Amino acid sequence: MSAPRKICVLTSGGDAPGMNAAIRSVVRTAITSNIEVVGALGGYAGLIQSKMISLSMNSVANIIQRGGTILKSGRAPEFHKPDARAQAAQNLKAAGIEGLVAIGGDGTYMGAHLLSQEHGVRVVGLPGTIDNDIFGTDETIGFDTAVNTALEAIDRIRDTAASHDRLFIVEVMGRDSGFIAIEVGLAGGAEEVFIPETMANVDHAIQSIKRGVARGKSSSILVAAEGQKVGRAYDLAEQIRRKAGFDAKVCVLGHIQRGGSPTARDRVLASRFGHAAVEALKKGSSGVMVGVQADRIVTLDFKETVGKKRVVPNELIELAQLLAH
Ligand code: F6P
Repeated sequence: MSAPRKICVLTSGGDAPGMNAAIRSVVRTAITSNIEVVGALGGYAGLIQSKMISLSMNSVANIIQRGGTILKSGRAPEFHKPDARAQAAQNLKAAGIEGLVAIGGDGTYMGAHLLSQEHGVRVVGLPGTIDNDIFGTDETIGFDTAVNTALEAIDRIRDTAASHDRLFIVEVMGRDSGFIAIEVGLAGGAEEVFIPETMANVDHAIQSIKRGVARGKSSSILVAAEGQKVGRAYDLAEQIRRKAGFDAKVCVLGHIQRGGSPTARDRVLASRFGHAAVEALKKGSSGVMVGVQADRIVTLDFKETVGKKRVVPNELIELAQLLAH
């Protein structure tokens, strides 16, 4: 199959720091290969409504350091309907677009997979989500920045927790995945980490806090993923209060973790992914995702990855438990 003459790039799902760096890389790699590039606005909604803008070398200047996405993003629930996907495919064809780069998380991949299967659209998926839960890649764009943002917050909370001899529960994002929580917990020296992948360890946390108190430690920090088994952080605080009588302050970091300037690691990853996505389209690949495994860029068939869940390695869970004393 010959290289496409014109491609489209979009960002879909929750935005992630580094998406702009990926767009820049897609645009600059494509134009260098004489491929025209347009961007669909607002994710799949932009394809359905044919809201597309032309992208040039210049239109992606000065964005590598910016969080968010210049193309805007959305979850486009209407894309679940076959009619909407047919409309999107028709709009792509009418605009002479011969390849699509879809940057986003698992929902984005599902949409891309269907578009390629049902309508033969040449699609490459590029992992962009702070959750780091995409099967087939060791890391996703935005994860490193989100972890560092949350970690900075935890370091600040530790200052006030220590000054007031308090127990804090810090809730981090991740939907039904515990990657952000486990890394933030490990790096922030949390007394306990609550993640969706494991049973709730409230008693273990209480023991850990008590051991600390016995050693003269007067403040503690627990990290809770938003999808952990007990519920939200406030539910956890209530359970700890009922079981041990400890009064925990709750801090929900929320969307702060999605914003901000991407770290160097995310910018480099996004640049590598964007380049690889265009190279894959040039080679005629379709229905594939780009990922990184053991620091090597790989392309994997959607059939092998879509619908599968990547889980936090046991090694990290065990280490977090071991160090929580
Ligand atoms: O998938 C990224 C993410 O930030 C999750 O961690 C979180 O659960 C969700 O998106 C929040 O989505 P929204 O911004 O639509 O509320």
